[in-house]
Amino acid sequence: MSANHKDHILGFYLNRPTPSIVKAEGVYLYDDQGNRIIDASGGAIVCSIGHGVAEIGAVVAEQIKKVAFVFRRAFQTPNLAQAAAKVCETTHGDMDRVFFVSGGSEATETAVKLARKYHIDNGNPSRFRVISRWQSYHGSTMGALSWSGFTSRRADFTPYLHDFVHLPATYCYRCWYGKSPDTCGHECAQALENEILALGPETVSAYIAEPVSGHSLAAAFPPDEHFKRIRKICDRYGVLMILDEVMCGVGRTGKWYAYQYHDAIPDIIALAKGLSAGYYPVGAAVVRAKIHDTIAGKSGVFGSGHTYGGNPVAAAVVCRVIDYLQEHRLVERCAAMGAYLATKLETLKSHPTVGDIRGRGLQWGIEFVRDKKTREPLDPQIHFSQQIQDEALRRGVHIESSFGCDRGQAGDTIIFGPPFIITEEQIDEMIGIIDKTLTAVERRVGI
Ligand SMILES: Cc1ncc(COP(=O)(O)O)c(C=O)c1O
Repeated sequence: MSANHKDHILGFYLNRPTPSIVKAEGVYLYDDQGNRIIDASGGAIVCSIGHGVAEIGAVVAEQIKKVAFVFRRAFQTPNLAQAAAKVCETTHGDMDRVFFVSGGSEATETAVKLARKYHIDNGNPSRFRVISRWQSYHGSTMGALSWSGFTSRRADFTPYLHDFVHLPATYCYRCWYGKSPDTCGHECAQALENEILALGPETVSAYIAEPVSGHSLAAAFPPDEHFKRIRKICDRYGVLMILDEVMCGVGRTGKWYAYQYHDAIPDIIALAKGLSAGYYPVGAAVVRAKIHDTIAGKSGVFGSGHTYGGNPVAAAVVCRVIDYLQEHRLVERCAAMGAYLATKLETLKSHPTVGDIRGRGLQWGIEFVRDKKTREPLDPQIHFSQQIQDEALRRGVHIESSFGCDRGQAGDTIIFGPPFIITEEQIDEMIGIIDKTLTAVERRVGI
């Protein structure tokens, strides 16, 4: 891989080279050294339709020639309304309005602001508190990081973060209540009610959660009953339910939205990543009619947003990506390939370090442990998951690693999120390489 760490980029890692990608096609990335890499994480679980779809590029070029930019406070373009309609259609009418932004952090910030605005215009200006969970991730801007519970990403910036309440993580493999699936009493759902009551329901605006976790808990998700209970609790106390589907939304879990696995419709959904499949920076806060109608019927203004939010090129990409997913039945394909990936991942269980494998659709995580019986995590000093990522890349697979699922102090994971177009043969190759990678790293660290 190229040693480009002397360039002028201030990147994520300041002291290690980052491979330079010169071409991307289908599930493959090609670097400037001639290496072919399977993109097992689809970027950061972004590239749903695969790399290099030329017609998306054509749509972008066409739109730039037509109207490259107008500012959303003064103008809109016809394709913005089309994009909003398409997003709402994929929710089967559950959602009614879309506020476009440029990424996931902006999407969760906007969702929280919309909740606050709804309460103000609904005659409840005392409602402002947001309740979230430890080991959640909702973005890296100061607001979004404040309600995120991803310990390692918060650590350096804690003095700047706002004081939000974090409930115990919804994390069955390491249940914070010491329960197992057999003894689960849905304590983590009940914790929301307790917290709302303790804070005073009249002060609580919203609850925000990921239906399927991203990097922080590597595709962990709560029991089926969970969100139904959360919905009931939110309704009981007039609290809005925000689901952060920035990673798991727009087909990634094998349904258009992860909330569709549950009998519980959120009030607001935050989207990004798959909304443009990586072809343009886009995010959105998507709301039920009551949120829009309440604000429209009172103040009539939602004074938030960003310069590039809802721009015509973004709208063109969203329209084309949703059409593409539908025309090629890629959400259905994601479910089918996800089922195949699940069977292949099972084969990795013979490794002494593979403690848990979890996921939905094409969003899967592996958690590594020192001891499978006790679930003791690996020594953080080993940087096991980072070693897996590095070794897999050397062998031709890019897989995203993460650390800190065990209350922020330990816990090594990797997360899979390949493009929906991946084939069974490519999955076989990918898992074969991960298998060999695991063997090599386990041997290297003496396991
Ligand atoms: C669930 C979730 N929410 C929010 C974000 C933040 O999105 P962005 O990085 O586009 O700001 C992410 C990013 O990984 C995410 O996974």
